[in-house]
Amino acid sequence: MLTLAELRDEALGCTRCALAGTRTQVVFDVGPPDADLLFVGEAPGQEEDLQGEPFVGRSGKLLDKLVLQEMGLDRSAFAITNVVKCRPPGNRDPLPAEIEACRPWLEAQLELVAPRVVVTLGNFAAQLLLGTTLGVTKLRGQAYPFGRGRLVPTFHPAYALRGGAEIVAAVRADLVRAKLLLAGP
Ligand code: URA
Repeated sequence: MLTLAELRDEALGCTRCALAGTRTQVVFDVGPPDADLLFVGEAPGQEEDLQGEPFVGRSGKLLDKLVLQEMGLDRSAFAITNVVKCRPPGNRDPLPAEIEACRPWLEAQLELVAPRVVVTLGNFAAQLLLGTTLGVTKLRGQAYPFGRGRLVPTFHPAYALRGGAEIVAAVRADLVRAKLLLAGP
């Protein structure tokens, strides 16, 4: 079995889909290799593609703020990754074939990090990890059994930036749900 660092090294050279031809670099993850809490987003945007770290743009700033305010945690205390590890050109939605090609990386990551709580950000991560076609509006508001832990679906921070106070309040409530799960048995 590979370590997370070995897995990441392998992924950095990935050519499993056409995004390999347009990316600046693979954006694999950030955070402790044994994090109890793992956020899973959609795909890197422009800033992430340039810096090589997930959620460093406007969405990421909102995520950091809400996680600090509601959970008391900063980036040293949790891990972040995405369903798709390379930026789709123009920030378009990832294609089903790209999600499928990238899926083994995420599955191996989940296996190695073995987080107690996974928080999915937006439809793509929730649908992939819960194996459903339901949207996050329907899915959120509760936690789901997942691996050896639980999964809490919430809205994508980019949606919260556009959606206003009601969406932000829902994300806050979901983060409190995740915090209670982390504190529990
Ligand atoms: N949006 C995502 O889903 N992931 C990132 O890393 C940045 C923006």
